[in-house]
Amino acid sequence: MTAAKKTNLETAKSPHEGLSYIKGGADSYKALLDSTNPKVKAVSKKEFYKMLVYIQEEERKRIGRELHDSVNPLLALANLYLELVQPNTAKEKFAKKQVFSVILTAIENIRSISSQLVISQKTECGLVQLITEMTEKISGTDIFEIKFIHSKEDLVSKMCPLIKLALYRILEEQLNNIIKHSRAKHVEIKLILKKVNICLSVSDDGVGFDTTKPVTGIGLKNIASRTKQFNGQMQIKSEPDKGCSLRIQIPFS
Ligand SMILES: Nc1ncnc2c1ncn2[C@@H]1O[C@H](COP(=O)(O)OP(=O)(O)O)[C@@H](O)[C@H]1O
Ligand SMILES: [Mg+2]
Repeated sequence: MTAAKKTNLETAKSPHEGLSYIKGGADSYKALLDSTNPKVKAVSKKEFYKMLVYIQEEERKRIGRELHDSVNPLLALANLYLELVQPNTAKEKFAKKQVFSVILTAIENIRSISSQLVISQKTECGLVQLITEMTEKISGTDIFEIKFIHSKEDLVSKMCPLIKLALYRILEEQLNNIIKHSRAKHVEIKLILKKVNICLSVSDDGVGFDTTKPVTGIGLKNIASRTKQFNGQMQIKSEPDKGCSLRIQIPFS
């Protein structure tokens, strides 16, 4: 199998370098769109989607870092000043305790939101490791039993970072659905590299749902659009009382 040629975005060494490709790319994208050659059009559209995902993830990283690095120290400082306040009445003592606890909760929430936002840096290192960590966290809660089967870690790590990130977000969304809606006892995640594509499947033995009825949420729609961005295929099989199984296949190039 010949290695797929990497795009400028994938080989960019820094966000700035990547963004300059995007800037330059926007003009050339317009020119390419005007092209009448269908092959040129198809390739440029794919590149364009990759740019969008890249920009989105860069922005998420930036917001995550900002939240963590600039807001949390301010809240910690507010806590220090609060220590200096000497309450006199029972009401004031209660108020001080409440403010203290609200600030701590805010710090904790920001930490958790920002670690979600900067997750893309981690997927670049190890998707298998990240999913393992995620499943371990869920196992600790005893909600359901969770199994993770995967292809060799070093093979998975060679995949395009944007595809790894998309798969991670898809899995996150579906696990969220399982926790929210399924009442499942067992969940199985598979991440398998095949000849021409990577396949992610997530199955549960919960209450299932009628897939013929229209859905109002955006979770499944997000999964579908993320899959489409990479020319992948999504399949969801479910029936009431028969669990749910989601299967995503994304080609390597
Ligand atoms: N694993 C699952 N088990 C049972 N029902 C599910 C599962 N996944 C999705 N659903 C159903 O599909 C609907 C749409 O899901 P989604 O688009 O993620 O929106 P939301 O989670 O916000 O309702 C859910 O409301 C739920 O009824
Ligand atoms: Mg959902």
